[in-house]
Amino acid sequence: MSLPELGAVRAFWEGSPLWTGESTHPEGSREFFEEHRSVVIDDCLAGSFDDRTLPRCARDEPVLDLGCGPGFWALDFTRRGFSRVHIADLTAHGLQLATQRFASYGLERPPAFQVNAERLPFADGSFAHVNCQGVVHHTPKTERACQEIARVLKPGGTASVSVYYRNAVLRAWKLLGPGASRLAAGLKIGLKGRGREDISSYDTVEEVVRRYDGADNPIGKSYSRRGANDLFQPYFHVDEVYLHFFPARALPFPIPHALHRLLDRRVGFLIYLNLTKR
Ligand SMILES: C[S@@+](CC[C@H](N)C(=O)[O-])C[C@H]1O[C@@H](n2cnc3c(N)ncnc32)[C@H](O)[C@@H]1O
Repeated sequence: MSLPELGAVRAFWEGSPLWTGESTHPEGSREFFEEHRSVVIDDCLAGSFDDRTLPRCARDEPVLDLGCGPGFWALDFTRRGFSRVHIADLTAHGLQLATQRFASYGLERPPAFQVNAERLPFADGSFAHVNCQGVVHHTPKTERACQEIARVLKPGGTASVSVYYRNAVLRAWKLLGPGASRLAAGLKIGLKGRGREDISSYDTVEEVVRRYDGADNPIGKSYSRRGANDLFQPYFHVDEVYLHFFPARALPFPIPHALHRLLDRRVGFLIYLNLTKR
C-alpha cells in the first residue's frame, strides 16, 4: 500500500501540533508549556531528562532541532547554555508554538525555518549537531530525511534521533492479533485527547503506532533495532542506542516509580540513536 503524501502529513500536524488537544491549559500559554514539559519528563521519560540527548558539540556551535514541534528540546538545550539553537518544522503552527515557548521564558526568538526534512534548505555542513526526536517516522521518505540530516552536518558532526520502536508490547500485540485490542479495551488502556480513547478499534500494530499521535495521523512507522540501525548506518557511525518513552498515563492505574523506570528503559516505545557523521 502506498503511503499518504507529505501534504497529508503537513495538514495533520498543522491542525494538531504535539500537546494540542491534550493540554488542560490554553494553547501557547506558559502553563501549556510547563504542563507539556512535566508530562514529557515525568510521564514519557519516567522522571528524568536524559543527558544522552544533549547536543554533543561545543555550546557556541550551531545546533538544529529538526521537527521541533512545540519546542521542548530547543528550549531545554538553550536553557542549558547552547547558544545557537535553530528550530525547523514542516508546519508554521509548530514553529509558532516553539517561538511562543521561547518568548514565555523571556528568551530571544531562535532562527526558525519552515522545512521539509526530506529536502532541507541548508548548505552542506551547516550544523555541528542535529536533534531530531520522533520525526522521521512520520514522513513518507524516511531514508531521504536521514540522508539530509547527514548532509547538513559538518564532517564529524553528531546527531541524536529517535523513531518508534517495535518493543515487547507491540510484538506481543502482533502475536495476539485482535485479542490484543480487546484486552486493551477491557483494561481501559488509552490516552485522552486527539481521538485516541478508542484503542479497542485499532486492529493492527501498524494502526496503533500510526494513531498514537492522533486518530487522523496519516503516517507513523515503527522499527526493529536492526531496522533503525539500517536507516542511519549508510551515513553515520552509530555510537549509542538506547530505549526510552513509556507513557504510563495510558494505563488505567498508577504504577510505582521504580517499575515505570524499568519499563521506560527496557520496554521503551522509542529507540534513540546517538550518531556521528562518517
Ligand atoms: C511527534 S512531533 C515531535 C516534535 C518534537 N520533535 C518533540 O519531540 O517534541 C513530530 C513533528 O515532526 C514534524 N514533521 C513531520 N514530518 C516532517 C518533515 N517531513 N519535515 C519536517 N518536520 C516534520 C511535525 O510537524 C511535528 O511537529
